[in-house]
Amino acid sequence: MKIKGNMDKYYYYSFPMQAVLVTCMDRKGRTNIITIAWHTPISKEPPLYGIAIAPKRYSHKLISETKEFVINFLPFKLVDKIHFCGTHSGREIDKVEETKFTLKPSEKINTPRIEEGYAHFECILHSKNTIGDHSFLIGKIENILIEEKVFTNDILDNKKIKPAYYVGGNSYTTLSDDLETF
Ligand SMILES: Cc1cc2nc3c(=O)[nH]c(=O)nc-3n(C[C@H](O)[C@H](O)[C@H](O)COP(=O)(O)O)c2cc1C
Repeated sequence: MKIKGNMDKYYYYSFPMQAVLVTCMDRKGRTNIITIAWHTPISKEPPLYGIAIAPKRYSHKLISETKEFVINFLPFKLVDKIHFCGTHSGREIDKVEETKFTLKPSEKINTPRIEEGYAHFECILHSKNTIGDHSFLIGKIENILIEEKVFTNDILDNKKIKPAYYVGGNSYTTLSDDLETF
């Protein structure tokens, strides 16, 4: 039996989506972290990655100013910190200090990565479009770093790493060990 879905939360029906942490910097070089579930690859050549950020977020202002950001893919075991970064604003607190994440310099841009992540996209802002109540920020990926031991031929080994997925509300899930390879 089908029932009517909730239009206010239409995007919940597309979940789970991986909850990534995006690092960005203010003009003085202080790093902020925002949790993002609305993100997607857009183009292979050039390599472009898109994130949807509401203009009211502090990170939106920072990325608009510095024109760069890092997409950090984090494991499920750090989901409490992922949730924290998605429920507090860098306008009020220093999320790096509160989460005790380890920042490491990126190779091609000024914004650092979160070392606890298992993959990192260093992005330069390619374009920004306001679409509805969010801005779609597209980053050109300038450099990628991955944790060697969790990928086999660039495919994530789900026995070695459990990514963090957001299912809506205050809830998260992760992958099982199931893997079909054809
Ligand atoms: C799991 C999760 C996913 C989120 N995804 C997004 C998103 O895709 N886009 C967005 O604008 N905000 C998203 N948010 C909300 C921001 O992360 C949140 O408002 C954050 O406090 C903004 O931080 P800032 O003000 O320091 O930029 C998400 C929050 C959570 C908990």
